[in-house]
Amino acid sequence: MNENMNSNGKYLFVSGVAPLKKMRVRTAQFINGVACHLIPWKSPKLLPNYDFLVKKYKEKGKKHILIVADKSVYQLGLLKCLLDTLNKAKIKYSIFTDINPNPTITNINNGRDFYFSEKCDSIIAIGGGSAMDAGKSIGILITNNKPINKYKGLFKVRHPLPLLSAIPTTCGTGSETTLAAVILDDATGKKYPIESNKIVPSYALLDVNLIRDLPKNVFAQTGMDALTHAIEAYLNNYGTHKTRQMALKAINIISQYIQVGYFGDIHARSEMLKASYLAGKAFNRAMVGNCHAIAHAIGGKYNLPHGYLNAIILPVILTTYYTRATSKLDIISKSFGVSSGHDKKQNAINVIERIQELNRLFGLPNYIEQIKDEDIPQLAQSAYKEAVPLYPTPLVYSYKDFERVIKYLQTKKD
Ligand SMILES: [Fe+2]
Repeated sequence: MNENMNSNGKYLFVSGVAPLKKMRVRTAQFINGVACHLIPWKSPKLLPNYDFLVKKYKEKGKKHILIVADKSVYQLGLLKCLLDTLNKAKIKYSIFTDINPNPTITNINNGRDFYFSEKCDSIIAIGGGSAMDAGKSIGILITNNKPINKYKGLFKVRHPLPLLSAIPTTCGTGSETTLAAVILDDATGKKYPIESNKIVPSYALLDVNLIRDLPKNVFAQTGMDALTHAIEAYLNNYGTHKTRQMALKAINIISQYIQVGYFGDIHARSEMLKASYLAGKAFNRAMVGNCHAIAHAIGGKYNLPHGYLNAIILPVILTTYYTRATSKLDIISKSFGVSSGHDKKQNAINVIERIQELNRLFGLPNYIEQIKDEDIPQLAQSAYKEAVPLYPTPLVYSYKDFERVIKYLQTKKD
């Protein structure tokens, strides 16, 4: 029996919102969905190497670049290739590394001040999701006047950012291609997403050398984040034929390469960079879901890594969907390489069990020991506020549903 299922071998029971509320939420989502189809979607141009990237900055007359990088990326010497190319092209740069694993409002304000004090005119963000989200958020403050928390939610950023490029050093966030940045309010401990077409980077570069020596645990957790992006994007109610195809392609690549890449195979790691990029493109339009809403709430409260949380939460969320999104999970099972025949429900369960199997292989727990009883109402509230009505999930969770799932996540399963 699946470890997330109850004693009857069914699933973790959540009821969803009341019918009237559901109707209102689905109407709001329908309007959002139509609007999303009308908006011109921006994607970064993928560049093959640093020479091409630097040439673009030179062509646009940029003279002084703010490089926003994770401290560890800087200390490990992963900026070398970029800096050598900039030096060769005689373009100045200043490096900003004061970024927390969950970038805070203070980090972003400091980055903006540094940009102005160094007289920068453009940005390159290099690192995991933290650095890329910080680069986007600093960019927002350069050309938009309000405090960063005024831009939370959908489409609040009015003015285009300075020239911005993103180079990922993990294979999970997809931030190099997305319209999202997630910020932690250090005063309240709450995380929130900023989502706007204006913050999509102009250029992205996928350099496998940057993830060649990525520690196994970081590789696994960020890879599971990419898987969560692809699965949530595929299951959501809007999205297009193209986003669904990209999500399935990402799931397929991840199924083939995450395990081999975990043990260091460089080709597999390169494929995982592609999967992360595709999954990012898919959720950029189709959005993420309840798993991310809960991960943001818990991650903000206890400062835990985003991919680590998604890996643990995803199978639990899927058990609450599997009777409601059986056909989609059945299709996912084929791309995920776990379809075992014509029984759709069994295939849906196979998806959940394979994710649990990967988590065990990667040494991840099946519960989150940091969750405290007294924090659950606030965590549920925060997740509910993020997800409803924004995320077009297969099941609209009520506040109580979020509470139930978070409570379930507290306990270790045998
Ligand atoms: Fe994510």
